[in-house]
Amino acid sequence: MKVTFSIIKADVGGWPGHATVHPELIKVAEQNLSKAKKQGELIDFHVTHCGDDLELIMTHTKGEDNEKIHGLAWDTFKKATKKAKELKLYGAGQDLLSDAFSGNIRGMGPGAAEMEFTEREGEPVIAFMMDKTEPGAFNLPIFRTFADPFNTAGLVIDPSMHNGFVFEIWDIQRHMSIKMESPEELYDILALIGAKSRFVIKRVYPKKGKLPEDEPVAVISTEKLFHIAGKYVGKDDPVAIVRAQSGLPALGEVLNPYGFPHLVSGWMRGSHNGPLMPVGVKNAVCTRFDGPPRVIALGFQLAKGKLVGPVDLFADTGFDRARDIALEITDYMRMHGPFEPHRLPLEEMEYTTLPSVLKKLHERFTEMK
Ligand code: F6R
Ligand code: MG
Ligand code: MG
Repeated sequence: MKVTFSIIKADVGGWPGHATVHPELIKVAEQNLSKAKKQGELIDFHVTHCGDDLELIMTHTKGEDNEKIHGLAWDTFKKATKKAKELKLYGAGQDLLSDAFSGNIRGMGPGAAEMEFTEREGEPVIAFMMDKTEPGAFNLPIFRTFADPFNTAGLVIDPSMHNGFVFEIWDIQRHMSIKMESPEELYDILALIGAKSRFVIKRVYPKKGKLPEDEPVAVISTEKLFHIAGKYVGKDDPVAIVRAQSGLPALGEVLNPYGFPHLVSGWMRGSHNGPLMPVGVKNAVCTRFDGPPRVIALGFQLAKGKLVGPVDLFADTGFDRARDIALEITDYMRMHGPFEPHRLPLEEMEYTTLPSVLKKLHERFTEMK
């Protein structure tokens, strides 16, 4: 049976500021999706939040980029926005860039990661959701899961994974994509994805083996709000879907990379580098300097598309040390105040509010003597 796993998310109002999502918004979304489930549009759903992003996790049989599913998500965000306006939540409706839905949610503000695949005998799926960062934040952990033998024991000792994986990488500036094979092209892959603000891993595919080669095993959302709106309207907090086990990295091999809280860009005003802190859902509340950036992971077993779960994977005490390290890095980075490399380099500040500050200084400059 082919099933589609969709995560569609939007910030339709923060509580307070950009910290978290009000429970009333989650309730509105649950009611709307529950109606769609009863009508047979969805097989199943789960609504959650990461920081100020409302996250709709849905399963269905309609494939990726389906007008009905995207329309349902849009309608849900509209209804949640109405509630956000009633409660005067902060930035109510901020990610809905248009008034009318035009058939596909891409380019309209919300972010989406979707994957259609043949459900296996046992199908563990992990939904990752981040707040206060950008899609490139997934490059390092996804690379380590699918290509780093020091992370993923299966790449070395499991014959069904030994051939490696195929990475689809997007150049989000030039709107081009490339497929690259690991381990053959490891160094070239890293040459690209190390520049995480420009080259992002979009999908990972299996190589010839027991899984269909044309069905992805990981997908990452890559919406870039500033490319859509032409101005800074918040970071494009990304989401990802990763399948695990039986010829794919084990659940623990998928999660292990997040034990290292690597530096990502985003955080306060989308303008700072900071550590990505793995947390349970109840701690996905961005407070300190509007952060630090967070990642949550919900694990499900699929049963004919039904979501058996979630298990709040980063709530596990195994990630306590990663959180401690993240907080130590937070102290260290924050001591830099407005200085780089805590603040992002100038070219990445182009879409923030900084250029308007610099503009008025520009005319006071005189020739250097
Ligand atoms: C980061 C983010 C926040 C805001 C900040 C200022 O993605 O959303 O850090 O940028 O709180 O928000 P405004 O300009 O709305 O007061
Ligand atoms: Mg926000
Ligand atoms: Mg957000």
